[in-house]
Amino acid sequence: MNITINGNTEIYCIYGHPVKHSKSPIFQTFLFQKYGINAIYIPFEIKPENIKDAINAIRIFNIKGTNITVPHKESVISYLDDLSDEVKTIKAVNTIKNIDGKLYGYNTDWYGFYESIKRNLKENKIKTALVIGAGGSTRAIIFGLIRLNVDHIIITNRTVSKAEEIKNDFINLHKEISVIPLEEINKCLLDVDIIINTTSVGLKDDGVDLFDYDNISSNQIIFDVIYKETKLIKKAQEKGCEYLTGHDMLIYQGIKAFEIWTDIYPNEESIFHIRKLISH
Ligand code: ATR
Repeated sequence: MNITINGNTEIYCIYGHPVKHSKSPIFQTFLFQKYGINAIYIPFEIKPENIKDAINAIRIFNIKGTNITVPHKESVISYLDDLSDEVKTIKAVNTIKNIDGKLYGYNTDWYGFYESIKRNLKENKIKTALVIGAGGSTRAIIFGLIRLNVDHIIITNRTVSKAEEIKNDFINLHKEISVIPLEEINKCLLDVDIIINTTSVGLKDDGVDLFDYDNISSNQIIFDVIYKETKLIKKAQEKGCEYLTGHDMLIYQGIKAFEIWTDIYPNEESIFHIRKLISH
């Protein structure tokens, strides 16, 4: 069904910098149309120095829902009226809901990761997880791992202090978290069931590797938060590992955002269609 814009059309949007590459407008517009909701979804490129004003604009323009992407996920927190429990731990917001002028912050990235693992792996055999990185998406993924009931989480990062900071923020939720420096990754590589790249390494084809990917074994699961097939993912394919790119994490974070805004969880047919839409 196509929407005719009129006086009742509701506005949804995404704030990011850059934002032109975002698949969210295509994705969410499809869902609004599919479910007959009179709404539009617009990308807005917001510079970091304007984010406070941009959040206030949500109230002024009565924007019903906003997705937040890089680099604003952390900085928006102080301008919102209330935060979900997940946000209090993850310290990043990717979805805002405007209820009568009050702005509520949520994080659905953790759910995207959680659902991606739940739906795609043959069986959930993850006892020990190795998470590489300590940047934007790392905290959401660690939250997802805790919800998946993994026994042990090992965080490794080039800058160890950042990994230690994350450990300290999560230790009340999960006792079995350890930190190792990235250069010592080989010490634990064989003992982990899943290796998760949350860094930006692999995004550019610049030849930088996080570790020697030949040390991966075929019974390990490889997850790369990057949407495209990275060198790490290609090595996982070559070795015959189960692997996942960030593709489904992106889909399910958006599905959850749509549910937060509309109380509708899209059906499987819609999810199938979204998968086709954003693969192009
Ligand atoms: P963010 O995700 O917060 O936007 P980023 O620049 O993409 O930021 O970096 C995220 C992660 O990638 C960080 O853990 C970063 O390591 P540092 O904390 O040591 O900076 C990691 N990273 C980026 N480039 C890297 C590289 N060449 N080798 C190892 N890790 C790298």
